[in-house]
Amino acid sequence: MKRIACRIYQKIMKFTAYFLPWREPVLIEGEDSVLELPDILVEKGLKRILVVTDANLVRLGLLEPLLRILERDGITHTLYDKTVPNPTIANVEEALTLYKDNLAEAIVAFGGGSSIDCAKVVAARLARPKKPIAKMKGLLKIRKKTVPFFAVPTTAGTGSEATIIAVISDPEDNAKYPIIDHALMPDYAFLDAELTINLPKNYTATTGMDALTHAVEAYIGKSNTKKTAELAKEAVGLIFENLPQAFADGSESEARHQMLKASYYAGLSFTRAYVGYVHALAHSLGGFYDTPHGLANAVLLPHVLKAYGEHAERPLAELYDAAGLKGETDSALKAKAFIAAMEKLSRSLDIPLTIKGIKEEDIPLMAERAAKEANPLYPVPRIFSAKELERFYHSVRE
Ligand SMILES: NC(=O)c1ccc[n+]([C@@H]2O[C@H](COP(=O)([O-])OP(=O)(O)OC[C@H]3O[C@@H](n4cnc5c(N)ncnc54)[C@H](O)[C@@H]3O)[C@@H](O)[C@H]2O)c1
Ligand SMILES: [Fe+2]
Repeated sequence: MKRIACRIYQKIMKFTAYFLPWREPVLIEGEDSVLELPDILVEKGLKRILVVTDANLVRLGLLEPLLRILERDGITHTLYDKTVPNPTIANVEEALTLYKDNLAEAIVAFGGGSSIDCAKVVAARLARPKKPIAKMKGLLKIRKKTVPFFAVPTTAGTGSEATIIAVISDPEDNAKYPIIDHALMPDYAFLDAELTINLPKNYTATTGMDALTHAVEAYIGKSNTKKTAELAKEAVGLIFENLPQAFADGSESEARHQMLKASYYAGLSFTRAYVGYVHALAHSLGGFYDTPHGLANAVLLPHVLKAYGEHAERPLAELYDAAGLKGETDSALKAKAFIAAMEKLSRSLDIPLTIKGIKEEDIPLMAERAAKEANPLYPVPRIFSAKELERFYHSVRE
């Protein structure tokens, strides 16, 4: 699509967004806050629920305290625990069958972005039973209220508990794409840092960098409101302050809690202000090679930001201040120093500089899909064509 047409589309979308039904989840946070969930279900008269999670979290025993209280309170739960990282259409359909077979009345999404997104698409399928998932791709294809939805994140990264987005993979086509609709905003979000204490170091690092990427891409985009800009800045500050600590000492509950907040704020910000090319490029990598989402973002982020050049200079300089960095006064130098600080942070978290397994021959199609995802939807500082996007894959290819 021509650059000028993209900009017109983005202006119209920004204007239209003022008339859309934005809402936020009811936020319940703090130690053991997830244990308040059964009371809320009882209050609402919900007696049968589907819990969507993954096998690893079940093995770690993370759900046990919640499940015990559900049982005590007479709430029947059915567990779907086969969600894979980069959740698939098959995951959603299996979980949907369980929901229907057990006459569930609500969904609890318990896990990282993968479990939450899988659960969101189950809710979407229930709202639109005749619409296949492939037809939900893109913007506002659901437009119907879903069943009551409760999100419990166990990573501090995707912010899916605060977004109208679900990202789904179709392995048959090596595809991974976002579904974006207000119906997908969870009704409740529980930020309970104790659940993230055993998150392995590499996931603490990469999911934290995912949250940072959300905040940065939202802030430098052209569709910010005063509120999304504030939320993004707040998230950047919290991440610079707390991610090193959460990584160095996983049991540090306060740093973990602040990271959950950062991820939540970044989610609220980008769900309205959008992400950008880093995410579009990362989704293609996820679709082709199952690359963990946060890792793909962390590695691509500095390359894309540098390529924006002066188009992103002012907002990046502002984020330099938001990150609490000191020393530079000139705007161009601040922008450069902010990118350098993110690279330094990434290295200190043992995140590699390149991504293994990218095949030269896959690059044109991956870039084409990334361009299709981003143009015209994402209000990026500078518009790149599919051909121009190819170079980012070359830059990060090992
Ligand atoms: N909907 C959105 O707004 C949005 C935004 C960004 C990313 N995403 C999507 O989210 C997915 C990635 O989610 P993610 O990065 O949270 O990872 P994930 O859900 O794929 O989990 C990664 C791994 O970490 C493990 N894990 C999770 N929490 C744990 C804990 N507390 N302790 C120990 N192990 C734990 C999981 O079992 C899994 O093996 C991708 O598909 C991505 O595209 C969605
Ligand atoms: Fe992300």
